[in-house]
Amino acid sequence: MPLAVVILAAGKGKRMVSDLPKVLHRVGGKPMLAHVIETACCLEAVRCFVVYGHGGEAVKTAFADLPGMDWVEQPEQLGTGHAVGQALPAIPDRDTVLVLYGDVPLIRAETLRPLLESADKGYVGLLTVELANPTGYGRIIRDAAGQVIRIVEEKDTTAEQRLLHEVNTGILAVQAQRLRAWVAALKNHNSQGEYYLTDVIELAVSEGIGVEAFRAYKPEEVLGVNDRLQLAQLERYYQRRQVEALMLNGVTLRDPARVDIRGTVIAGRDVVIDVNVILEGEVRLGDRVTIGPHCVLRDTVVGDDTEILSHCRIEEAQIGRRVRVGPFARLRPGARLADGVRVGNFVEIKQARIGQDSKVNHLTYIGDAEIGADVNVGAGTITCNYDGANKHKTIIEDRVFVGSNVALVAPVKIGEGATLGAGSTITKDVPADSLSLTRAPQKTVADWQRPSKKSS
Ligand code: UD1
Ligand code: CA
Repeated sequence: MPLAVVILAAGKGKRMVSDLPKVLHRVGGKPMLAHVIETACCLEAVRCFVVYGHGGEAVKTAFADLPGMDWVEQPEQLGTGHAVGQALPAIPDRDTVLVLYGDVPLIRAETLRPLLESADKGYVGLLTVELANPTGYGRIIRDAAGQVIRIVEEKDTTAEQRLLHEVNTGILAVQAQRLRAWVAALKNHNSQGEYYLTDVIELAVSEGIGVEAFRAYKPEEVLGVNDRLQLAQLERYYQRRQVEALMLNGVTLRDPARVDIRGTVIAGRDVVIDVNVILEGEVRLGDRVTIGPHCVLRDTVVGDDTEILSHCRIEEAQIGRRVRVGPFARLRPGARLADGVRVGNFVEIKQARIGQDSKVNHLTYIGDAEIGADVNVGAGTITCNYDGANKHKTIIEDRVFVGSNVALVAPVKIGEGATLGAGSTITKDVPADSLSLTRAPQKTVADWQRPSKKSS
């Protein structure tokens, strides 16, 4: 059946103590709601509704460029049943409805598929979980034969029911036509005066519709976030899931608890990552890449056999094979390092290509530049790319030798094989195979007496 996913996200999230709507708080670098929407996409939902309330405009804006989302406002939070009811008018009778939660970010498509199959067969598919401490959750009530017959909210439980450890995750799947009728029949005669979605279970049972309960494999997958402690717990769980997958795919992590993945990492074989590394966005690592401690890489491609030494920050860069970067290097967007390049400590590179086997080893800024192959850039070299208004380009051709402490005032072009003397300020183009230097001649005074301190 066509699938409509309804994501509840209207709660105020007061316990976050935040100006940001709860579902925009991030897990693994991504808003919680984005995780849920991604799962809906995995399940090939034809429609995806988000029921929003407090701070809803900010949520909508955050997802403005995501097509195919249906935003439904629930102006007053009258309960989970009422919330689902806001989306139902737009869902055709024969569709399967799957209810998810914007603050339950780590639910996986694999866990949900059996619920959808259950709904397709005409049952209610319900996801439950066993919790060591079930306090606060709705309890699953089963009859003598083990069939689910009801869900009782904690506040409405008897002392005996409170002892049950199987709880409601809130996630269920059922055919729209049925859900519509049941939601319309909900009453708010309970301790919280709310229209509980959970009451549809009893309605289903009273109509002889079977409820198939599936237990979630890991509690973390179905845990919601109410405060920042829970957010941190889920973050740790999510990170563990990510790093375990990496390790099983052949990546060595010196300490899996000290690597954070906030995005997607595609890694080759025998990659080694040291401690306190953060990988953000889409990071691709070739075979045998090593990343030293305390590095941050974002949206970057790294070629085979490349070594990133400690304390590097690398964003939107393309790094070739057999390259060595760092320690303490900064590669900014548009840095492209060809195979065999060396970039050393305290070097910043932005919007620049460095050709094969070239070296930029110490204390240098290269911005808006094209550097050829086998170039040596001496310590303290600066491309003066900015005149206060516009950026200009520096071109350095193959086999150029740039002495230490050279200022290249762009736009400027250094021809193939040229040599630039240390300490020069190069303002004009330099022809191939020449030597250029701009340097006051050295003066030496023999037998120089330094002033001595006056005795008082
Ligand atoms: C709900 C379930 C409970 C289950 C628990 C799992 C009900 C009545 N109870 O309880 O059985 O064990 O979740 O976490 O469903 N929401 C809206 N609009 C509303 C009310 C809620 O969008 O009017 C959203 C909230 O943003 C939240 C979710 O629904 O994401 C759950 O609501 P909440 O009030 O936290 O329900 P619980 O009391 O936790
Ligand atoms: Ca809750």
